[in-house]
Amino acid sequence: MKQRCILHPWVLSGLMVTTSFFLMGLGWAQNNDTTMAASKITSERKANAMDIIKDSFGITSEGEAITLYTLSPSSEFKVAITNYGGIIVSIITPDRDGTMTDIVLGFDDLESYIGKHPYFGAVVGRYGNRIANGKFTLDNKEYTLAQNNSPNHLHGGVHGFDKAVWQAEPLRRADAVGLKLTHTSPDGNEGYPGTLQCEVIYWVTQSNTLEISYKAVTDAPTHVNLTNHSYFNLAGHDSRTILDHEMTLYAEYFLPIDDTSIPTGLLQPVANTPMDFRKSRMIGDRIEDEDEQLLYGIGYDHTFVIDPENKKELRQAAQVYEPIHGRVMDVWTTEPGVQFYSGNFLDSTNIGKGGMVYKHRYGFCLETQHFPDTPNHTDFPSTVLRPGEIYQTRTEYRFSTK
Ligand code: GLA
Repeated sequence: MKQRCILHPWVLSGLMVTTSFFLMGLGWAQNNDTTMAASKITSERKANAMDIIKDSFGITSEGEAITLYTLSPSSEFKVAITNYGGIIVSIITPDRDGTMTDIVLGFDDLESYIGKHPYFGAVVGRYGNRIANGKFTLDNKEYTLAQNNSPNHLHGGVHGFDKAVWQAEPLRRADAVGLKLTHTSPDGNEGYPGTLQCEVIYWVTQSNTLEISYKAVTDAPTHVNLTNHSYFNLAGHDSRTILDHEMTLYAEYFLPIDDTSIPTGLLQPVANTPMDFRKSRMIGDRIEDEDEQLLYGIGYDHTFVIDPENKKELRQAAQVYEPIHGRVMDVWTTEPGVQFYSGNFLDSTNIGKGGMVYKHRYGFCLETQHFPDTPNHTDFPSTVLRPGEIYQTRTEYRFSTK
């Protein structure tokens, strides 16, 4: 039986007070946006504006109850997130005629998310993408991780953050509803050193933006590289391939990979290659070119360098436009790179929401992050986190139409 309740402002206020104590314990600064006064807004808006709806999403085999939170800041934007893996289960936005459609791939039930799937919508950690041969040396000590993408380590290992049960706290501010997820990964978890305390905050705003901010602290030197692995299809998750989506990537360089998808270490100019998306063009334009990089990736599965200087300022990484329905997605991030993955390994084995069969290239990912295999590349922007430091990044997916 589904349990459904709308969280009332006073419950939320209580949760926020509890949260601030929790954060003080961790030594983190409270997010100033999380004002209690903002919670009064609910009653003044139309029926489903500023709602946070809580549904039971099932129970894990360890007996943990999992919740699905549907955040709707307005009647024109709705994002559902579960505390299992921090997974974004749906993003519903209008097309240019106002028709609301779910534009991310995923499942209707928890069991499917617990089962085998390619990280649909999940928080990826401790380390997004690959670490060569599942090994790195930090402060003269070698660490061994799972080689779960033989011969490499992928997306945090066998039981990564995509499979963790996160603690969840609903949030409100004047223009948005949100969800704070926290998770502690113990020292040695999946082979990584240090106890890592992580926080992911999703804000779903009235201007149709999904903001994601990540924070982490550690008690011993370690590597961290968190991202979100949503698969988008701006025509609808239940439509067709993404090859006719038009995309701009604000990148002069990409990271060429070897035949196991590990970066060679070079930053290669995109000019005169199929990687050149500096001017908007269809994803499918050159995806079948006889190009060594496209052959290694079985399509696009490469890091594009958004900020070679790693200034950590919010800047635009990408714009994607779907011409038939008119949806536009702008991606902004403080990260130096974005992994553009054209859904090359989708192969009809995942039966998604409403029985939809997700075929080859029916979704694409723009995973904002530091570069893959940085622990083995001293000249890449560092992913080392030491005690006393705060890992902090932010990404925004802004939706509109034209
Ligand atoms: C990332 C990787 C891909 C693939 C997918 C998940 O985008 O770069 O190679 O592993 O995740 O299937």
